[in-house]
Amino acid sequence: MTIATAEMSGAPPAANPVIHPHWVRITHWINVIAILVMVGSGWQIYNASPLFPFMFPPAVTLGGWLAGALRWHFAAMWLLVVNGVIYVTLGFATGRFRRKLWPIRPGDVIADAGAALQLKLSYADLSVYNAVQKAAYAGVLLAGAVVVLSGLALWKPVQLQWLAALCGGYDGARYVHFFAMAAIGGFAAIHVAMAFIVPKSLRAMITGR
Ligand code: HEM
Repeated sequence: MTIATAEMSGAPPAANPVIHPHWVRITHWINVIAILVMVGSGWQIYNASPLFPFMFPPAVTLGGWLAGALRWHFAAMWLLVVNGVIYVTLGFATGRFRRKLWPIRPGDVIADAGAALQLKLSYADLSVYNAVQKAAYAGVLLAGAVVVLSGLALWKPVQLQWLAALCGGYDGARYVHFFAMAAIGGFAAIHVAMAFIVPKSLRAMITGR
């Protein structure tokens, strides 16, 4: 039986239980700001030396020019990493990841994705993530780790040669960094749409309940 109580409080289920404790909400919204700055400035940096035959429209970039964008990127990187380390540490330490994101069974992900496409997936109990949510949240955490590690390889390719080598060299790290960004962007597009399709989930991520 799933008991929708506050984080490990041991208290009996409340009428209006806490779904997202303070630390989840605070780190989540700081992460949104950090990601927006990282992506906007990253697109401006990309435009200085595009990997593909397209550029990002200046209206969606941040920094104005290469040096300006690099300063935004390096400033927001600390926010992203410190905030991310706090979230991941607390996610493991409080048991939230184990309770909310585990286990992820491929069969369940396929079944829930099918149900969602037929509009048959229930969002009645916000305290339990469906298999698609579990896979998406675990996946975006992985993409976040890859984007940070490949970014570190690009930032310090001499000192962190082994990391750059792991990405297939400096140029390889640029592609890894780009595709990890694209995965996070793809996740965010669907994730934000879902938050507005199920507004009570957005309310819970703001008020906690
Ligand atoms: C304006 C943008 C965003 C909005 C409105 C938003 C909204 C939400 C909402 C409503 C939930 C709760 C989902 C539920 O209970 O079913 C949630 C959870 C989550 N979001 Fe976002 N989100 C945004 C951006 C992002 C971004 C950019 C990322 C990562 C790159 C992200 C990662 C996550 C994760 C990992 C969770 C699960 C947190 C946990 O339970 O520990 N979100 N978000």
